[in-house]
Amino acid sequence: MNFKRYTADLTITNYKFGERPDVTIPDREFYKVMGEEGIRKLVTRHYDLLRVSEISHLFPANDEIFEIAKNNSADFMVQICGGPDYYNQHRGRPMLANRHAGSHITPEGRLVWLNCYKQALAELSIPRPLIVSFWNYLNVFSNWMVNSPE
Ligand code: HEM
Repeated sequence: MNFKRYTADLTITNYKFGERPDVTIPDREFYKVMGEEGIRKLVTRHYDLLRVSEISHLFPANDEIFEIAKNNSADFMVQICGGPDYYNQHRGRPMLANRHAGSHITPEGRLVWLNCYKQALAELSIPRPLIVSFWNYLNVFSNWMVNSPE
């Protein structure tokens, strides 16, 4: 598979530090096609890529704690895509910018995080517009988590 060809329409916007652009949640069709299990697999792939990335130090080193972190993220992604509200049930209101405040997240860290998703999404065989819809959500909302200029 030609990685570039399959990710050419997944662009990363260079927002200003502190900017919180309006978020559009992913198309409900993405959830219908992926299903809960598909989204959990996608998050697993993303976390496995994060673990060997330049921002691996931000994530728990301990395997069991890493699994819990991955599961919390998967619960959120299932919920935001239109599935059951597991995240609210287990963790309460997302308030994700607040929850990320304890991690040192720079614009470069955001790029790494997004590029790990780009790779994970390139491996899916679902209709392109659905991938783009999910990507657009991540591209915008990820800027909310950036809390350190460098
Ligand atoms: C900008 C890039 C991002 C970085 C570098 C990042 C990094 C992190 C880190 C370090 C954690 C804590 C892991 C732990 O120790 O438990 C975390 C948790 C989490 N992240 Fe992100 N994140 C980013 C963007 C996002 C985005 C865009 C979303 C949602 C669309 C998201 C959703 C979550 C969720 C749901 C959790 C679990 C929060 C909890 O503890 O309940 N993250 N992230």
